[in-house]
Amino acid sequence: MSEKRYAIAIDGPSGAGKSTLARAAAKALGILYVDTGAIYRTVGLCVRQRGVEPADQPAVEALLRNIHIEMCYGEDGLQRMFLCGTDVTDAIRLPEVSVLASKVSAIPSVRDFLLEMQRDMARRQSVIMDGRDIGTVVLPEAEVKIYLTASPEDRARRRYLELQRRGTPQDFDQLLREIEERDLRDKNRSVSPLRPAEDAIILDTTGNTFEQSLTLLLKTVRERL
Ligand code: DC
Repeated sequence: MSEKRYAIAIDGPSGAGKSTLARAAAKALGILYVDTGAIYRTVGLCVRQRGVEPADQPAVEALLRNIHIEMCYGEDGLQRMFLCGTDVTDAIRLPEVSVLASKVSAIPSVRDFLLEMQRDMARRQSVIMDGRDIGTVVLPEAEVKIYLTASPEDRARRRYLELQRRGTPQDFDQLLREIEERDLRDKNRSVSPLRPAEDAIILDTTGNTFEQSLTLLLKTVRERL
């Protein structure tokens, strides 16, 4: 890990390529990649497993008091999520968990509960952290803030190809609808809505290949650092 500690915040809507790009950028820079969506997804999965209605705020709060969420890094350097001791890294990627994660993330106490866990990661080492409110709320002092976006159609197409590759294909129009609904919910919630920080650099990756976006991201980061 690098000696001087710095933080790079990457925010933006779902499917903009934040996690793939941030992971590759972390490798190129020799720093840690923190995927904060995975933490919200773990809460979403828990709600599903325990049969709790995600809109039932008191029930979700009660649940949070009784669960243990842990974020660990394997020898391969990849982030793994544990829910009450069980590795849920793969389970949290199910499409239905995405919807539940978005719903529980609109609850203020859920966000408060997860805030310290995220900040703690950045205190200990240089990080590139992705999410929806990293530059605005979690790490407002981050040295570099990027708002990564792409058109809804482009994002739905990427998700479509990704699910096809994983052997779990889904209808394109359905994916586009889900992305638009999720955008609307993430942007319009009352706490920590998705929006660029005032000092964020906006990178629009519509039509880019992965390599083009990564080159652009690394160039932007290096210029800022
Ligand atoms: O990045 P993702 O798709 O894995 O995130 C899942 C959901 O979690 C997303 O709909 C919004 C929420 N989220 C959030 O509210 N704040 C973050 N920092 C990260 C994710």
